[in-house]
Amino acid sequence: MKIVIVTGGSRGLGASAAIECARNGMGVVVTYNNNPDKAEEVVKTIAQSGGKAVALKLDVGNTSSFPAFRHAVATELETLWGRRDFDYLVNNAGYGLFNPIATVTEEQFDGLSNVHLKGPFFLTQILLPLMADGGQIINITSATTRVATAGVAPYASFKGGLEVLTRYMAKEFGGRGIRANSIAPGAIRTELGGGLNDEFEALLAGQTALGRVGEPEEIGGVVASLLSNENRWVNAQNIEVAGGYII
Ligand SMILES: NC(=O)c1ccc[n+]([C@@H]2O[C@H](COP(=O)([O-])OP(=O)(O)OC[C@H]3O[C@@H](n4cnc5c(N)ncnc54)[C@H](OP(=O)(O)O)[C@@H]3O)[C@@H](O)[C@H]2O)c1
Repeated sequence: MKIVIVTGGSRGLGASAAIECARNGMGVVVTYNNNPDKAEEVVKTIAQSGGKAVALKLDVGNTSSFPAFRHAVATELETLWGRRDFDYLVNNAGYGLFNPIATVTEEQFDGLSNVHLKGPFFLTQILLPLMADGGQIINITSATTRVATAGVAPYASFKGGLEVLTRYMAKEFGGRGIRANSIAPGAIRTELGGGLNDEFEALLAGQTALGRVGEPEEIGGVVASLLSNENRWVNAQNIEVAGGYII
């Protein structure tokens, strides 16, 4: 059985990715930050369908917590699956923040940087020794790296950095058969940045070829699919999954 770690798996895209991966036969480690109950719901949903999952606390913005997290992962791998390694890492955890460049504070900038770029960098680094050869890393970026959207400059910039980092991961980890790809969602109906109001949703739907915003399952399914053997030659790519957003 392949094992995947999904950061930010308590809600939204991460929860959907966790459930879709379990449906494809993977064991799942989901992480949560402020919502342990939501993460336990995901674990329960997976268990009810005959899968196996566990939820662990992780603040991706706090690198000093990573050694303890790695230790907790190693313990769960041994206890639940009798393994000393895992196969896939999905760096998904994140949050949105709207503020124009003119008024972004240094604290807001650093917070977004820590969660969207520094966190995935050092989390991947610390988990690498536990990752099996032939595994894969998927970094969740954003369509805002391609289409400038006023109000999300630091967020989009760090997502852009994460997209570049993905190619460097593919370059440096390829010798172990580890692939790295990024998925760039367009607007998806989650609680990100407080969620979509009707007006914003209508605007985004109007800018999308398929005429609507996406649903979490439409990203979760792509994550699971990209991890499958059928996609084993896809490497170092950024895959926008956005229904044809501003084309
Ligand atoms: N929804 C979209 O339209 C969209 C578009 C492009 C990219 N994305 C990206 O997709 C990813 C998931 O977003 P979403 O839409 O699913 O958002 P969401 O519904 O708000 O869920 C965010 C998830 O990330 C976790 N999280 C937030 N801050 C964290 C931190 N500091 N450390 C660890 N976990 C943290 C949350 O955990 P708790 O709830 O436990 O605190 C939750 O599980 C993000 O990276 C986001 O930037 C989303």
